Amino acid sequence: MYLCSMDLSNALTHKIFKVVSDSSTSLELETYVIGGYVRDFLLERGFKKDIDFVTIGNGIALAKEVSKNLPENPKVSIFKNFGTAMLKAEGIDIEFVGARKESYDHNSRKPSVENGTLEDDQNRRDFTINALAISLNKESYGKLLDPFNGIEDLENKIIRTPLDPDITYSDDPLRMLRAIRFACQLDFNIEQNSLDAITQNKERIKIISNERVTEELHKILLCKKPSIGFGLLHKTGLLPLILPELTALEGIDEIEGQRHKDNFWHTLEVVDNIATATDDLWLRWAALLHDIGKAPTKKFDKKIGWTFHGHEFVGSKMVYKLFKRLRLPLNDKMKFVQKMVFMSSRPIAISEDVTDSAVRRLVFDAGESIEDLMTLCEADITTKNPKKFKQYLNNFKKVRQRIVEVEERDQIRNFQPPVSGEEIMETFNLKPSREIGILKDAIKEAILEGEIPNEYEAAKTFMFEKAKTMGLKKI
Ligand code: CTP
Repeated sequence: MYLCSMDLSNALTHKIFKVVSDSSTSLELETYVIGGYVRDFLLERGFKKDIDFVTIGNGIALAKEVSKNLPENPKVSIFKNFGTAMLKAEGIDIEFVGARKESYDHNSRKPSVENGTLEDDQNRRDFTINALAISLNKESYGKLLDPFNGIEDLENKIIRTPLDPDITYSDDPLRMLRAIRFACQLDFNIEQNSLDAITQNKERIKIISNERVTEELHKILLCKKPSIGFGLLHKTGLLPLILPELTALEGIDEIEGQRHKDNFWHTLEVVDNIATATDDLWLRWAALLHDIGKAPTKKFDKKIGWTFHGHEFVGSKMVYKLFKRLRLPLNDKMKFVQKMVFMSSRPIAISEDVTDSAVRRLVFDAGESIEDLMTLCEADITTKNPKKFKQYLNNFKKVRQRIVEVEERDQIRNFQPPVSGEEIMETFNLKPSREIGILKDAIKEAILEGEIPNEYEAAKTFMFEKAKTMGLKKI
């Protein structure tokens, strides 16, 4: 037993630990708290609301005993094949597992489970920093068990596998993404042998479900500096297997002395920038995907140099396929990302010459997402020329200001036609028909162009004028 002298009783102040410890004693088991809870406690990352316990023996029996000893007797969910059981108490997700010796089926992540010792169980875990355990047993309560020098790795900020990394990653290829995600979340380095093993085993990521891959991508995107994660995905060769649309943006072409920027590294800068401005996962996705249309639309024109005509439209179309493949939601979240990609150049286009009508059209098209769009555009400024940087930022400041002014006057954001379709039908005795659409559209256009204010009376007068030109008569 690798009992460490370090006393971590102060990690066990929550009453759940006493209940688990007493339940374990009454069943004559040996039990430990293990994994992320211990890691995050030592890193002072705050109280982790999902706690894993490992017991030498029957984890399911222990879970049932714990439930019995808790005042609310929470329901125990049992996963018999895995020998695990879960329950929820006081807002904490608690998982119990019997210590295992595992060998994995090569073609799936399904482990074949055999009972084992605590050491066996720690051996089969992903990283040394995730194999740290604290004893809940009477004679050693609160003592740390650290067989692989996880504490040292925590101090030195290193991600290392307990076993040969080739075995650990090949056993469960999801761990390759977990290594990268932890490196990004904790700002740790992945030890070189591990990095090499990930590079070698990268193809095995294909046996992992897209849902799980996506879960890790979300976590990387939500980091303080997501580029650490995406940079590592790129370095290890995992990125083209997961997000080939991003890898396709890499590289700088040069023709006749004309070069374009490397849109892959630019994108990562944009994602880091937006991470300082928002925690919104979907806006961060939009930043990651805002330029994906540039690879398929890239062209060289002798007169104007490199062009990416229509990349925003092409990119927004690519979002659907990408979301479908990665099992991301095909709902309003996707529509939001599509809209952001599609509109990503609009504020730039008007920032030089901010006319009222251009601002009104921008607000009309962006609707509720106008602030998010401006945030994306600001994050998109990656020029290293301080003068230009300031100028671009100032231009957007002006656009933002004009948006506020136009909004106060015209209320375009949640545009409701001032004259309804029903009123048009009643006024001219029309059945549902094309004419109604034409009239409604003409009113909207006149408002956006600033020909009339966004008001009922003005819109009605305008409607009569337009109707006249169409040969419609009031009844
Ligand atoms: N684990 C593992 N291999 C995996 C997933 C998990 O060895 N593919 C082990 C690790 O010991 C991990 C523990 O199971 O610490 C719990 O896993 P999980 O709850 O998924 O992750 P945490 O480490 O708790 O961290 P986070 O909640 O940030 O994912």
